[in-house]
Amino acid sequence: MRIFHLSAECYPVAKVGGLADVVGALPKYQNLAGLQAAVVMPYYNRKFVKENVFDTVFQGATLLGTRRLYFEILKEQTDKLGFELFLVRIPGLLDREEIYSYPDETEQFVAFQIAFLDWISFSQQSPDLIHCHDHHSGLIPFLLYHSKLYTRLANTPTIFTIHNGQYHGAFGWDKLSYLPEIDLSKTGLLDWAGGINPLAAAVKCCWRYTTVSPTYLQELTINSNGLEYLFYMERAKGVGIINGIDTDIWNPKTDPMIASNFSVLQVSKGKQANKEALCSRFNLAPDKPLVSFIGRLVIEKGADLLATAIEQSFNEHPGQFNFLLLGAGEKETEIELLQLKAFYPDWFHVFIGYDEALAHLVYAGSDFLLMPSRVEPCGLNQLYALRYGTMPMVRTTGGLKDTVIDFGDEGGYGIRYNDASVEDICEAVSRALVLFNNTKHLQSLRKIMMALDFSWDRSSKEYINLYKSLNPII
Ligand code: ADP
Ligand code: GLC
Repeated sequence: MRIFHLSAECYPVAKVGGLADVVGALPKYQNLAGLQAAVVMPYYNRKFVKENVFDTVFQGATLLGTRRLYFEILKEQTDKLGFELFLVRIPGLLDREEIYSYPDETEQFVAFQIAFLDWISFSQQSPDLIHCHDHHSGLIPFLLYHSKLYTRLANTPTIFTIHNGQYHGAFGWDKLSYLPEIDLSKTGLLDWAGGINPLAAAVKCCWRYTTVSPTYLQELTINSNGLEYLFYMERAKGVGIINGIDTDIWNPKTDPMIASNFSVLQVSKGKQANKEALCSRFNLAPDKPLVSFIGRLVIEKGADLLATAIEQSFNEHPGQFNFLLLGAGEKETEIELLQLKAFYPDWFHVFIGYDEALAHLVYAGSDFLLMPSRVEPCGLNQLYALRYGTMPMVRTTGGLKDTVIDFGDEGGYGIRYNDASVEDICEAVSRALVLFNNTKHLQSLRKIMMALDFSWDRSSKEYINLYKSLNPII
C-alpha cells in the first residue's frame, strides 16, 4: 500500500503554481482513505525547510556522468502535512533557493531521479506504485524498467501525471551518459524529435498516464508542443481526472489569510467585508464591481491580452468597475501592466510578485475572476474562486470547460467564452457588469457556486481506483 509521489513542487514546502497544490493535497486525502502515500521532492533552501525538523534517513553517493554526487534523504519528523515528506539533498545541486530556471536544471532533475531510485533500491524498499508528476520525474519509468541497477524494482507499476504538456524538460543526447547503466537497445524510448525528452519517455514507459481534466486529455493530441502524435498513439493509456482542492486550506469559514470569515449563509456580508479590506489596501472604491486576475503572467494564461483588454473595457465602461491583478512572469507583460496602472490609478492595481496570503484575500474579496487561458490543463484558481463565491470568467478550454458552466445555461454559475481574445474578454466583462447590477441573481448564483463540491474526496477516489486496476494489493 506504499505509494511514492515524485514532484518538483509541493505546497507549502515549495510552490510556483497548481502542481504544488495538487501534490500537497492528493497524498493527504489518499492517506485518509487508507493508503500510505509519501512525497519525495528536491531539497530547496526555503522557509518550510528552515522552520521544520528533518531526520537524515539515508546517505549515499551516485554518479551523474563522471561527476560523483553525495546525497542524503531527509524526512520531515512529524508528518505534519498528512503524509511522509522526503527531500533529496545534493550539496551544490539540490540545496538552492529557487525551484526552477537554473542553467543546470537538467543536471538537477536527473540527479534527483537517480538519487531517489538509488535510495529505494539500496534500502530495499518495495513501493506498490510510483506516481510521477510532470517532466521533472519523467525519466523514472524508463530507468526502472530499462536500467540494470534497478531490476529488483522492475515490476513496480508507474503512473505519470501531466500537469503541463507544454514543458518537456528535453535535453541533448550528449547527456545520455547521465543515465545509469541503461539498456542501450531501448534508447528509442527516450527520444523525441532528436533529443532526450523526459515527458515523452514517461508517456511511453509508464503503465498509465493521467492528466488533470478529461478535456485536456483530448487536447494533448492537438496541442502539446510537438508531442501530439505521441499522445494520439498512446491514447489507450491515458486517463483524465479532474483536480480537487484542499478544502481544509481553501475554506472561507476558517481561512486565516482573509479579512473576514464567512459561510454561504452570509455570503454578501462576508464578501463585502473582504472586498473592503482588499480595496482599502490598493486604494480602489469598494462599491464598484471588482474583477481580478491571479496567476503566472505567461502566454498560456492569456496574460499578454490583459493590458489591452482591461484598457478597452475601461473605455467601454468608464468608472464602472475596478480591476486588480496579482501575478509575475514575462517582463514585457509586467511592464505593460505597470504602465496601465499609471494611466488608471483609481480603477486598476497590479501587484507584481508572488503572495500566497494576498491571493486568498483576492479570491475572497473579488466579485469576478478572469481566466482567459490559451492552455489550462485543469486550473485551480476557478475552483478556489467558486469556493469563495467569486464568479469565474473563463475561456472554454481544458479543465475550465470541465468545471465551469455558463450562467446562461442550465445549472450554470460562471461566465464562459470561446476565444482567448481581447473581444471575448471585453464581452465577458460587459456580461459581468450587467449581472452585478442584478443583485438578487448574483446572490443566488454565489450560493450555487459555494455549494459545489470540487474537493479531493471525489478525485482522490478516482486515482485510487486507477492504482487498484494496476496493483490489486492497493
Ligand atoms: P498553474 O499551475 O498553471 O499556475 P493553477 O490554476 O493550477 O495554475 O494554480 C495556480 C496556483 O498558484 C493557485 O494556487 C494560485 O492561487 C497560485 N498563484 C498563481 N500566481 C500567484 C501569485 N502571483 N501569488 C499568489 N498565488 C499565486
Ligand atoms: C499546471 C496547469 C494547471 C493545473 C496545475 C495542477 O500547472 O497549468 O492548469 O491546474 O498544473 O494540476
